Amino acid sequence: MASIARSASQSIRAASRRAPSALAKAAVKPAQTASYSLLARAAAAKAAQRAPVQGARGVKTLDFAGTKETVYERSDWPLAKLQDYFKNDTLALIGYGSQGHGQGLNARDNGLNVIIGVRKDGESWKQAMEDGWVPGETLFPIEEAINKGTIIMNLLSDAAQSQTWPTIAPLITKGKTLYFSHGFSVVFKDDTHVIPPKDVDVILVAPKGSGRTVRTLFKEGRGINSSIAVWQDVTGKAKEKATALAVAVGSGYMYETTFEKEVYSDLYGERGVLMGGIQGMFLAQYQVLRKNGHTPSEAFNETVEEATQSLYPLIGAKGMDYMYNACSTTARRGALDWAPIFEKANLPIFEQLYESVKNGTETRKSLEFNGRSTYREDLNRELEVINNQEIWRAGKVVRSLRPDYKPESE
Ligand SMILES: NC(=O)c1ccc[n+]([C@@H]2O[C@H](COP(=O)([O-])OP(=O)(O)OC[C@H]3O[C@@H](n4cnc5c(N)ncnc54)[C@H](OP(=O)(O)O)[C@@H]3O)[C@@H](O)[C@H]2O)c1
Repeated sequence: MASIARSASQSIRAASRRAPSALAKAAVKPAQTASYSLLARAAAAKAAQRAPVQGARGVKTLDFAGTKETVYERSDWPLAKLQDYFKNDTLALIGYGSQGHGQGLNARDNGLNVIIGVRKDGESWKQAMEDGWVPGETLFPIEEAINKGTIIMNLLSDAAQSQTWPTIAPLITKGKTLYFSHGFSVVFKDDTHVIPPKDVDVILVAPKGSGRTVRTLFKEGRGINSSIAVWQDVTGKAKEKATALAVAVGSGYMYETTFEKEVYSDLYGERGVLMGGIQGMFLAQYQVLRKNGHTPSEAFNETVEEATQSLYPLIGAKGMDYMYNACSTTARRGALDWAPIFEKANLPIFEQLYESVKNGTETRKSLEFNGRSTYREDLNRELEVINNQEIWRAGKVVRSLRPDYKPESE
């Protein structure tokens, strides 16, 4: 879900500025110090112990509900092997949004040689400095970072990848590797005009979560699931490199896909159930409750609070039937009856959405909107409208009553 928490990237960094963890503090030291390695190794060892591995360590072919798929795992890349593999490389992360922050700090904590390239003195430049990247040492203007890097990790916004491509392309010279976290730019090349040079490996590592989660799971010693893919394999090592880089930036398990499949599923999912769809469902349910005389707190509790605090975590833990079984027989009967009605009503919308992704409509909208010089202000204005909706204002009060509540302005 490429765009999830993009909007949250500032608050993520604000949070990490407020309460830097021991790891984050350690990360401001130069790379390769013992502290990164020890922490990361301890985390990797802990995660390896926990991994539900069938058989020997390594690549696995697993049966996903009748379809066999290959999954790669972090335990194939112990820290020493990872550091050795990239010992002659400089990872140049271009862009410091949600993903740049999470992936960059993780790779740095893993002891790799990482530099950041962003617009000088822009918002990201300041944020990178606050995270301990040092101008002239590990923080550079975009073109300078690309010149210094051997692995160019293009983590600019998708719109910016297209806008900057004419400047960036000539700098991606033979021998470098071009890395993306989304299939967007190369798959929709007719709109983005991003056509990689023929003589470089082009790979993808797309964490299935926000940059915030990429970072927090890494710090907890777990790893995020990521998709990996190869667009162009010049060296014959592209897939291996993608797998190793996925581990370097904090992935636990890597699922192989193609650039096309990744971008279609990702644009579709974030517009659907992950973000847009769920927002629409919450709001529709809330509005009907309010229209029928329910108070804001009752409508919020019955729509959002119970979902996020009680029932969705149960689905996440053990699946839909598990959640059903944890609920009353009254709830079970009603939900079983209404689920197919919602499915039928939603199916045409999802069909329409997938088509809109596949035919490039979603891409073109994103390029136009996020390519504006005022993209941050324009997005914030719309998010402020959500923030001011009664449902979310009621939610703030409900959350303030939680026993573990901490003021949200902090
Ligand atoms: N966020 C996610 O959850 C997620 C998950 C998986 C994959 N991805 C993919 O990861 C990549 C990065 O996404 P993101 O969410 O981390 O970043 P983002 O918020 O979409 O982009 C932020 C970065 O783009 C830079 N930027 C924007 N316009 C620019 C321009 N015209 N010229 C130069 N720089 C510009 C910003 O720099 P300034 O501060 O200077 O404007 C900032 O560093 C994308 O391909 C995305 O699809 C994201």
